[in-house]
Amino acid sequence: MEIREALKTRRSIRAYEDRAVPRGVIEDLLDCARWSPSARNVQPWSFVVITDKEMLRQIAEIADYGKFIATAPACIAVLCEDGRYYVEDGSIVSYAILLAAWDHGLGTCWVAGDKKPYAPKIAALLGAPESMRLVSLIALGYPAQQPSVTKKPLDSLVHWEKW
Ligand SMILES: Cc1cc2nc3c(=O)[nH]c(=O)nc-3n(C[C@H](O)[C@H](O)[C@H](O)COP(=O)(O)O)c2cc1C
Repeated sequence: MEIREALKTRRSIRAYEDRAVPRGVIEDLLDCARWSPSARNVQPWSFVVITDKEMLRQIAEIADYGKFIATAPACIAVLCEDGRYYVEDGSIVSYAILLAAWDHGLGTCWVAGDKKPYAPKIAALLGAPESMRLVSLIALGYPAQQPSVTKKPLDSLVHWEKW
């Protein structure tokens, strides 16, 4: 899939087929994502891949707008070492995962991590070191829905030369 097509067709998927995602595919997503840019090339990210049903259930219980994580075959927690740009770095690597997953025919949904009061609780549940911040939870699976979404028109967003 071309990058332009992936950027325009990717949608958040919150319903999944009852089918495991092969480990090699998940490894490929993360291998793609790790080439993302980061401030001063610090690459502060680490990934926790969760496929255990009970752990998925526990995460879903905590994440108030992520109940569907319990029905996903996998979830990737993106954690970053605390620092000035950890949110930016963690966000860009998260988006790279969404796009690489879409290219593999997988659906994802970003579930809020950083800024949510539950973020430290999930990081601790996953056994992450104290210095790591949860940036996102990415539910992952083969899509069982085809959602549509509206986006703001381009001309309402763009200002050439000056606002
Ligand atoms: C920072 C961030 C936090 C999000 N948190 C949630 C969430 O907690 N639960 C959820 O269902 N979707 C969440 N989303 C997904 C958005 O709802 C979704 O991207 C948006 O509705 C646009 O749809 P699209 O991804 O199909 O373009 C989040 C997305 C971002 C970027």
